[in-house]
Amino acid sequence: MLPGGARDDKLRNRKGLWLVNRRHKEYWRNEGMSSRGRHFASDNFAGICPEAWKTLEQANRGHEVSYGEDHWTELAADQIREVFEVYCEVFFVFNGTSANALAMASLCQSWHSILCHEYAHLERDECGAPEFFSHGTKVLLVPGENGKVDPAAVEKCVKRRGDVHYPKPKALSVTQSTELGTVYSVEELGVIGETTKRLGLKLQMDGARFANAVASLDVTPKEITREVGVDVLCFGGTKNGTPIGDAVVFFDLELAAEFDFRCKQAGQLASKMRFMAAPWVGLLQYDVWLKNAGHANKMAKRLRSALNGLPEIKPMFPTESNAVFVEMPGDVIEAMHRKDWRFYTFIGEGGCRLMCSWDTTEEDVDGFVGDLSAILENRKR
Ligand SMILES: Cc1ncc(COP(=O)(O)O)c(C=O)c1O
Repeated sequence: MLPGGARDDKLRNRKGLWLVNRRHKEYWRNEGMSSRGRHFASDNFAGICPEAWKTLEQANRGHEVSYGEDHWTELAADQIREVFEVYCEVFFVFNGTSANALAMASLCQSWHSILCHEYAHLERDECGAPEFFSHGTKVLLVPGENGKVDPAAVEKCVKRRGDVHYPKPKALSVTQSTELGTVYSVEELGVIGETTKRLGLKLQMDGARFANAVASLDVTPKEITREVGVDVLCFGGTKNGTPIGDAVVFFDLELAAEFDFRCKQAGQLASKMRFMAAPWVGLLQYDVWLKNAGHANKMAKRLRSALNGLPEIKPMFPTESNAVFVEMPGDVIEAMHRKDWRFYTFIGEGGCRLMCSWDTTEEDVDGFVGDLSAILENRKR
């Protein structure tokens, strides 16, 4: 079925409409999309956290100025400045893909190249948006263990060629926390920052799960961004409890010049911006963002340690944030899916990604592990 779920032909006749209504009733009865309230497929599956929901509701009172000139957008941007303890330029866009793509476009010309890890969302999962919005900037992949770029490989890639026939390396993108659930330490980022400065590269951070990294490292946000040379951060909200919208945060203020025009042209200027910004206020107040992320990380640790005790379940990468990666036999994956557990299997043969969210409970983790143990036990018989 296509996204939106309502594309089949049955919809075109009365019987189809009846079916759709029945499905909706089932959905309502289950309080969700399936017999299970929560899954491990993506932290995007989770809803809006109560604090973000509350400020969203508060923003829905009376009239407000549109296109980001409103009170809520100003407040959310100021709170982000407080988080980073500096004046930075802040823009709210609809999602992480547009944040990454537009941020990269503001760093690069079409003849430049962007370096990123071979598992980077920016290259693998954004349908070429960074190249599209920068009018052809090439993305060059660099290797590195556990989803982290190897600074030596960055240097090699930049120094490989300097002639006019090669797309001039202009920026490095790092993901914090990484696509593989690991987290760059302050020291590792220090080396990356020093390397990019020396090579004349701008540094962008894809922080779709920035909160999980801060909570995991227990550092101040500035220590892993502007203090290590990050020029622009794409700060994710949706995976941490907002309904929609990520923030593009420029520490290098010059790079933000005319970014508002770039957003508008790309269809990323929300007319009712207050509804994108207000949930951020709820998230940032009283450090809810860190509480949410810390909880998701804790659930991932619980899951990981329970899985460590199971036969035939092989760990793939260190669990340092809210993602757990393990290898499972194919028939076990199928049996778990039949039990209605949803999770993705896109990392090589048998590789499973299990994501925890701000609302994952200990019962969810124990239920998952219990079902998995029973399936493994049955196979032995
Ligand atoms: C590392 C990373 N960056 C960016 C994104 C943002 O993507 P989206 O455009 O779906 O919000 C995601 C979403 O899964 C992600 O995992």
